[in-house]
Amino acid sequence: MSQRAVVTAGTGGIGLETAKGLAARGFAVTVVGRSAERGTSAVEEIAAVATAAAPRFVAADLASLDEVRALAAHLAADGPLNVLVNNVGAMFADRQHTVDRVEASFAVNHLSPYLLTELLLDQLQAGAPSRIVNVTSGAIRVAKRSFDAVEPPGGYYGFHWYGRAKLAGLAYTLHLAERLRGTGITVFAADPGGAATDMTNGTMTSPKIVSPPLRLLWPLVRRTFERSTAGPASVAAQPSIAAATDASLDGQTGLLIGPQARPVPVFRGAADPQIAENVLKLSRQLAPLHGGPDVQRGRTRPPYVPE
Ligand SMILES: NC(=O)c1ccc[n+]([C@@H]2O[C@H](COP(=O)([O-])OP(=O)(O)OC[C@H]3O[C@@H](n4cnc5c(N)ncnc54)[C@H](OP(=O)(O)O)[C@@H]3O)[C@@H](O)[C@H]2O)c1
Repeated sequence: MSQRAVVTAGTGGIGLETAKGLAARGFAVTVVGRSAERGTSAVEEIAAVATAAAPRFVAADLASLDEVRALAAHLAADGPLNVLVNNVGAMFADRQHTVDRVEASFAVNHLSPYLLTELLLDQLQAGAPSRIVNVTSGAIRVAKRSFDAVEPPGGYYGFHWYGRAKLAGLAYTLHLAERLRGTGITVFAADPGGAATDMTNGTMTSPKIVSPPLRLLWPLVRRTFERSTAGPASVAAQPSIAAATDASLDGQTGLLIGPQARPVPVFRGAADPQIAENVLKLSRQLAPLHGGPDVQRGRTRPPYVPE
């Protein structure tokens, strides 16, 4: 029987290329996204390169914690899981809040992967040796390292808040790697570098995504963004594919796989135990594993799965 892999936000951009890479290596891949139309065309594209089991699509809006819980329950029913790639990520030019009333960058980039991972640990244990891959970003370098509250003090700057949410995800990745050491579940972060995708093309053209000092240098900043996000998603997917499958990583955990698809030192701050502690506290508060009364009574909308 094929090994099972799940790739969130796997119907477009870097996630779709990651899903294709895993399917080509024999995994039965499930991709998650919001749009059924996009899901159907992604499944066709993945099936064309799959060497073993057929891919499938499950719809969920990963900005909603109830949808993440429903997705986890749906995926858990399929049994053992060998690879979970938490690829979902988003940058917002303007401050937004999710249906859970949580700031959207923090919710989509960190809380959603955190919750999905915690809810699938039993299935990953059943599939061990198994791997969790959390997709990170070099934007961490401009992140404010303050996690006393979900929203940091000061103004909203999409690129910096996105980087801060990715920093939360990386701190959680390193924590989880230690927590799971010896269980057969290993945990990696993957930095895709950059690629021309919906996310970068849609959000990196406005100076308001950066802080006022960087706005003064906007032409230079913009050129840097353009250069670093000019490449194809198929190349940017290589770090995630390596983190999920490379045999040279067997038995290792807690590594950051860089844009060249090789381990690199982790970004400064991510290994700070105080950051990890604050991130975990916020995550447990904002994304409880069992959800509100509607989830417990089975009243949330089940994920859409096409015939
Ligand atoms: N592109 C870069 O230069 C770059 C650089 C560093 C890190 N990254 C990271 O790499 C990962 C992939 O980035 P990308 O550039 O490929 O992003 P992208 O182009 O925005 O990804 C598109 C995919 O995300 C899905 N998606 C978006 N929002 C979703 C939501 N709320 N719920 C479920 N699915 C959702 C889309 O499907 P639907 O529209 O159907 O929902 C589609 O499958 C992210 O974690 C990103 O932060 C990217």
